Amino acid sequence: MENAVKERSIDVLLREGASFPPPPAFAKTARVPSKAARAKLTAAAAKSPEKFWDAAARELFWFKPWRKTLQWKVPHAKWFVGGTTNLSYNCLDRHLDGPRRNKAALIWEGEPGEVRTYTYLQLHREVSLFANGLKSLGVAKGDRVAIYMPLVPEAVIAMLACARVGAVHGVVFGGFSAEALRDRINDSQAKIVVTSDGGWRKGAILRLKDAVDEAVKGSPSVKAVVVLKHAGNEITINEGMDHWWHRLTAKSSPVCPAEKLDSEHPLFILYTSGSTGKPKGILHTTGGYMTQVAWTTKNVFDLREEDVYWCTADVGWVTGHSYLSYGPLLNGATAFMYEGAPLTPGPDRFWSMIARHKISIFYTAPTAIRTFMRLGDSHPGKHDLTSLRLLGTVGEPINPEAWKWYRRTIGGERCPIVDTWWQTETGAIMISPLPGATAAKPGSATLPLPGVDADVVDMQGKSVPLGSGGYLVVKRPWPSMLRTIWGDDERYKAQYWSQIPGMYFTGDGARKDKDGYIWILGRIDDVLNVSGHRLSTMEIESALVGHAYVAESAVVGRPDEIHGQAVCAFVTLKGGRTPSPELKDELREFVAKAIGAIARPAEIRFTDSLPKTRSGKIMRRLLREIAAGGAVKGDVTTLEDFGILAKLQQDEE
Ligand code: WT7
Repeated sequence: MENAVKERSIDVLLREGASFPPPPAFAKTARVPSKAARAKLTAAAAKSPEKFWDAAARELFWFKPWRKTLQWKVPHAKWFVGGTTNLSYNCLDRHLDGPRRNKAALIWEGEPGEVRTYTYLQLHREVSLFANGLKSLGVAKGDRVAIYMPLVPEAVIAMLACARVGAVHGVVFGGFSAEALRDRINDSQAKIVVTSDGGWRKGAILRLKDAVDEAVKGSPSVKAVVVLKHAGNEITINEGMDHWWHRLTAKSSPVCPAEKLDSEHPLFILYTSGSTGKPKGILHTTGGYMTQVAWTTKNVFDLREEDVYWCTADVGWVTGHSYLSYGPLLNGATAFMYEGAPLTPGPDRFWSMIARHKISIFYTAPTAIRTFMRLGDSHPGKHDLTSLRLLGTVGEPINPEAWKWYRRTIGGERCPIVDTWWQTETGAIMISPLPGATAAKPGSATLPLPGVDADVVDMQGKSVPLGSGGYLVVKRPWPSMLRTIWGDDERYKAQYWSQIPGMYFTGDGARKDKDGYIWILGRIDDVLNVSGHRLSTMEIESALVGHAYVAESAVVGRPDEIHGQAVCAFVTLKGGRTPSPELKDELREFVAKAIGAIARPAEIRFTDSLPKTRSGKIMRRLLREIAAGGAVKGDVTTLEDFGILAKLQQDEE
């Protein structure tokens, strides 16, 4: 672990270079307009984080004020204790009395090209209708609702409807398999599944309802399935179980007062990969989440009334929760959303949408930026991108080359870039530039935001000196922090609060440079980051050994130019089974079916044995080195013999 951090620190040292101060024209009108202004905010928040967050919470609507800002008993936090509020009320009702009433809340473009706009008033109505629909199916406060949908406005409407009635939503990414969906439904004991017939992806229809049918067979908790008619593909309707969305809402009342919910009422469960095979249900609650998401959206993106803000994330990920749905709506902004694939029907789809909808804030992932960079400047060059005034990135470290390309080719050298570090667990952005205040250094997420006590420490929890590497931690509770792992508080304690005593451990290695800027070095546990999405090596391994021919497997990441990391699986076969290119393809598909296409190994390598230590631990470091070693030599089905290597390295651990 220590070595990995050290090696990567050296990489960072080599590329640390240029610094880009906020463009003066931008800083002039920015919410936080100078380095000094940020320092002042940070100092005040450090002195009294509770006072800082208290003021942020007061910008929102509460039915009843809180008695106490924070109740902290390591590792359990309660924020805004005793207060009651409702997230859907804050996203919708709060905007209906003023000039935002008829303002566009959501502008959506489908992959085939359809455009739909919802004003705040219209969105409020749709959410109320659907919330009443959920109630008519027996959904009550605290019930779990699984949402398995394409990126359509109804996905956001379903989330807001759950928040309105106090049901706990669990969005499952539409690219996940039926099996992955079933596991998540069962773990959360969801009562209802909301889905659609299908969704558009690369010109084809993703058959979501079929996957739900398969999942629900093994999910006894599910009492009803709501189906949105969207892609128009034929589906099977199961009488007594399935309900068309349009029929359900046609008979609903549009009046649905928002439930007065306790600040700590559960808002959502979102599953993410950890270092074991079983995904973790990250639990977020209402008041604190809402407060930090609202503050960060407003200040990190310097969000304005007249902005058209586009976050490209899917609602299946936390970014799609905090910065596609809730953050912009909490701020009464206009959010754009796009259903489909980035390169459909052509490589300029994104740029065409930015030009047509006059997008002013654009937030995406480094993997997408690298893809576009590789496709060349001619595609963005065809479109007028001058509406853009701010760019953002999230999900993984961005390499300086891609950062500079983004700034020049997309941002026209005039847009600041915010590189935002956070996690599913943190709920909201934690480390980031403030665009009018912080000089950016390509590849660094820069500084902890005001009210966030993040630091780089050694194993004992001691802050490392400037210029050194260590572990990224958060030393004090923050409002949008996860509250637990659903159904497994012990795992919550062990995973996040036991590695470095008394502090939240992020799982990331990091380095502080001479200016105190934080450089994320990546995960130090067995978690891969493929295209900004977390995958657990163990989850993929357990999928592989589920195949009848597979005896053992070890999954590691190898560096990948576009995706950050790619999945590389070493596999040993059961006696009598022979490796073949066909079996490779079969195993790749097998993983895709078990988890989802995102986990499909880029590479399968058959081997006679896996290198192990005397105690039987797989020597992953060795495998990582081999995987990173470039092209596979000779016949792709060659067996690798790790016997000798393992012997040579036996005494290393
Ligand atoms: C992990 C969290 C937060 C939404 C997307 C991913 C990596 C995230 C950055 C960044 C370097 C980053 C970290 C983190 N990561 N943002 N700006 N720079 N690394 O959410 O799936 O919960 O993954 O993504 O390793 O721990 P997630």
